[in-house]
Amino acid sequence: MVFSSGSIKTHALKGISFEIQKGAFCCITDASGHGKSTLLQLVGGHMKPTSGKVFIDGVDISALCDTALSEIRAKKIGVVFQFFNLLPYLTVRENIQVAMMFTKLSAKKQRERAADLLEYVGLSEKANARPNELSGGQQQRIAIARALANDSDILLLDEPTGSLDSEMEEDILAQIKKTHKLGKTIVIVTHNKEIAKQADIHFEVFDGRLKI
Ligand SMILES: Nc1ncnc2c1ncn2[C@@H]1O[C@H](COP(=O)(O)OP(=O)(O)OP(=O)(O)O)[C@@H](O)[C@H]1O
Ligand SMILES: [Mg+2]
Repeated sequence: MVFSSGSIKTHALKGISFEIQKGAFCCITDASGHGKSTLLQLVGGHMKPTSGKVFIDGVDISALCDTALSEIRAKKIGVVFQFFNLLPYLTVRENIQVAMMFTKLSAKKQRERAADLLEYVGLSEKANARPNELSGGQQQRIAIARALANDSDILLLDEPTGSLDSEMEEDILAQIKKTHKLGKTIVIVTHNKEIAKQADIHFEVFDGRLKI
């Protein structure tokens, strides 16, 4: 993956090839700026590789048009971005409901599920707030609620507990493990050594390359 800004080119990932089995718990660690977030965003189809391919369930998502890709993402992938990426003009509740757009749930059920998830992350009272009215940790909890909303098969989590206190971190990590036990595939970027130890696959990204 090469990023170009004017004449400056950054080779964020180089010659990476790997496979994650359905239902695996995969952990990505390493120092800052080595390509972890780029890797996760490529896997989730949130950016297209400048070379190479990304397959999800046998479909080359790097070759799909934006509409087809959005649908696959919405149906199969829940994601917590490192910088949350909440939609600023929507309320907290709406941010969670947007993730259920492609589910078969009725509007009423979507509202109920959003309310349940808000209760789970302890932010029911913020349902009608806008993201910019929340603290960093609160935004992270909303991003987690949104990622869980559509009960997707694949969960991609980019340092999902980086802005949380240790109690909340334990709670969220326990939830992620529980989600994994339901048969979901988890790919998590984290500095939490305990999580890394428990993973089925542990990738270290160094200078854009994988150490497995
Ligand atoms: N949109 C972009 N445009 C240009 N360069 C980028 C872009 N996104 C990432 N990069 C560069 O790609 C490299 C890898 O960045 P990435 O965000 O994937 O690292 P990271 O391992 O997630 O870092 P951190 O631990 O700090 O989150 C860095 O050199 C970064 O500056
Ligand atoms: Mg990152």
